[in-house]
Amino acid sequence: MPAFSKNDLKKFLTVAKDLALQAGTLQKKMIGKKFKIDFKNGDSNNLVTEIDKKSELLIVKDLSKKFPDHGILGEEGSQRNLGQGFEWIIDPIDGTTNFAHGHPYFAVSIGLAYLGKPIVGAIYAPLLNELYTAAEGQGAYLNGKRIKVSSTKKLKLALLSTGFSYKRRGINLPNFEHFLFSTQGIRRGGAASIDLCYVAAGRIDAYWELGLKPWDITAGIAILKEAGGYATSMTGKKLDLHAQNLLTSNGKLHKEMLKFFEKAPELDHELDEAKSL
Ligand code: IPD
Ligand code: CA
Ligand code: CA
Repeated sequence: MPAFSKNDLKKFLTVAKDLALQAGTLQKKMIGKKFKIDFKNGDSNNLVTEIDKKSELLIVKDLSKKFPDHGILGEEGSQRNLGQGFEWIIDPIDGTTNFAHGHPYFAVSIGLAYLGKPIVGAIYAPLLNELYTAAEGQGAYLNGKRIKVSSTKKLKLALLSTGFSYKRRGINLPNFEHFLFSTQGIRRGGAASIDLCYVAAGRIDAYWELGLKPWDITAGIAILKEAGGYATSMTGKKLDLHAQNLLTSNGKLHKEMLKFFEKAPELDHELDEAKSL
């Protein structure tokens, strides 16, 4: 017997969607208002606001009530029942720096993994008015409309995106430089969850990053997979939410990108650095 049914997935997704909308609505209301901002580890480029914490509380409270046996992992400190079957993995605001500046590229990201595999995702970017959703085997959607990855086959015709870790800002620069000159361009939006949704929606052809945490990517990978995308480590290994490095694409560009990473002179060093983040 499978551990969950189609109906269970529907229920999980409905809850994830509803909570993403609630938290995102709270965030939207706070744009332009005063709120408390702290710096994580005293780093002036690593922000956390009182709205990150409020959003996580709102989400975790409801999930705990509805699914008392499920695990929960939230960026702002929530941890419960981990290492069992189901794990809700939450980034209450992905793109906090953008949020704090009133830049619209931020989102609530709520993912559910079963034994480490993302099976449900809801990502809501309130200022973009975009809600991305997916459940395993049921397709990926943007505001209720089916989405799929692009069909770009060559890197020189591709638009890529990436990001840079707060702690070691430079570790991705050699890769960035390479792809800047071998593609149509690279975007750095500042919210990994939305970057993944953009690959899912075919707006971006591939996205990679070092130093990512499970809450940055769980929901996004559930969505990307249902849109026909690929997700592996940057060395082509099977997806591991804790690997701290990720390569995603429309599938067609994966091989060509892996070929570069295989020979990238700095990659071993970068992967080591990323592990310490
Ligand atoms: C960050 C964003 C950013 C990425 C960083 C993440 P946060 O998340 O996703 O795009 O480059 O690696 O830490 O801290 O804003 O939730
Ligand atoms: Ca994040
Ligand atoms: Ca966050």
